[in-house]
Amino acid sequence: MGSLSLVIWSFFALLCPILNSSNEVVASSRGGPFRLAETEVAIGAAQAGICASAVTIHGYRCQEFNVRTDDGYILSAQRIPEGLAGGGGSSRPPVLLQHGVLVDGMTWLLNSPQQSLAMILADRGFDVWIANIRGTRYSRRHVTLDPSKPEFWNWTWDDLVMHDLPALLDFVFQQTGQKIHYVGHSMGTLMALATFSERKQIDKVKSAALLSPIAFLSHMTTALGVVAAKAFVGEITTLFGLSEFNPKGDAVASLLKALCAQPGVDCYDLLTALTGKNCCLNASTVELFLKNEPQSTSTKNLVHLAQTVRDGKLTKYDYGNAYFNVAHYGESKPPSYNLANIPNDLPIFLSYGGQDALSDVKDVETLLDSLKFHDVEKLHVQYIKDYAHADFIMGVTAKDVVYNQIVEFFRSNQLN
Ligand SMILES: *[C@@H]1O[C@H](CO)[C@@H](O)[C@H](O)[C@H]1NC(C)=O
Ligand SMILES: *[C@@H]1O[C@H](CO)[C@@H](O)[C@H](O)[C@H]1NC(C)=O
Repeated sequence: MGSLSLVIWSFFALLCPILNSSNEVVASSRGGPFRLAETEVAIGAAQAGICASAVTIHGYRCQEFNVRTDDGYILSAQRIPEGLAGGGGSSRPPVLLQHGVLVDGMTWLLNSPQQSLAMILADRGFDVWIANIRGTRYSRRHVTLDPSKPEFWNWTWDDLVMHDLPALLDFVFQQTGQKIHYVGHSMGTLMALATFSERKQIDKVKSAALLSPIAFLSHMTTALGVVAAKAFVGEITTLFGLSEFNPKGDAVASLLKALCAQPGVDCYDLLTALTGKNCCLNASTVELFLKNEPQSTSTKNLVHLAQTVRDGKLTKYDYGNAYFNVAHYGESKPPSYNLANIPNDLPIFLSYGGQDALSDVKDVETLLDSLKFHDVEKLHVQYIKDYAHADFIMGVTAKDVVYNQIVEFFRSNQLN
């Protein structure tokens, strides 16, 4: 890692003459961002697994599963089959919770059980399944590839659409024999929208709740996000190559340091810098969040997301030139995902926040415009003025403001 971080560092030193090496990124104030010392705690939790570290400790039943994708990744998934009061049985409708980028399934379990979506759903009669995509700490396994090798990290969200989400939905469908209600946050919404736009897995999905939806990203307001996106579609791709993007590693720390030194970028509180001004977070929950997240993803995935920021449209990964695109897709440009192809009668609940710096209101409006022919009674749109990106998964008011509405939405679509 050392030499790689040096390379990145030099690259940015060339790029940004204003670089100030005393600029402290890994600030520790107020339960501050991404502290390296906390890696140890996270590893301790990793050995215990999500069920043991965040679910059974609250008295809920929980089961760990391994789900194999058709390209050989082994994903970890958890099931909370019943609520605290029991009442398990075959009639409980399954729900799959899909987290966003740079985090894992733990994000659904950080508040108290009365405030966390996973437990609320279990207590309200649902059979809850929690996904963890490839590369996150419990899903760093493959039948042949080793996570220490570049080949393991040769994927983008196209592959999550093609392999991870289908494997997870197939698995839950097979285990429960029922169509599934879906909840996605952030990149978890992108995965679903892209999948449904190809009319895949629709036969296994009953409805979808999309929180902080991401499809278009060109209005993203986070200054750090914007400079990072520019770096990812620029020279950094060739510098990092195919690799793990480990937010707790040296290379990324140096990169962040460089990005944060750019004018207009305020990294005093990284969570706010990245997600917007969250209204309703509990300081202890944020601390727990930072013990568990962020998680690794592939550099190629971040490059793909950065291409979406740059291009203002939703396409497969752009290999950068006509020759390589033709080799992969048979066309000089990467194929588009056409969201208007999402079946008009698929029940969708979409909730977005006025303070969200990643899922900007203007970009959500573009998304809604692409759904303008959706059956009116099948599309429920909720706008929450005060909410930013993290409020949707960790907000102390989320139960009243969002989760109760999701439960009602799922119940009203149970008979589809
Ligand atoms: C990465 O995957 C692409 C296909 O998506 C393949 O063409 C390429 O050879 C792979 N590269 C490595 C180093 O595995
Ligand atoms: C914040 O979290 C702590 C620890 O879980 C809890 O004791 C407290 O009640 C929470 N506060 C609110 C407002 O939910």
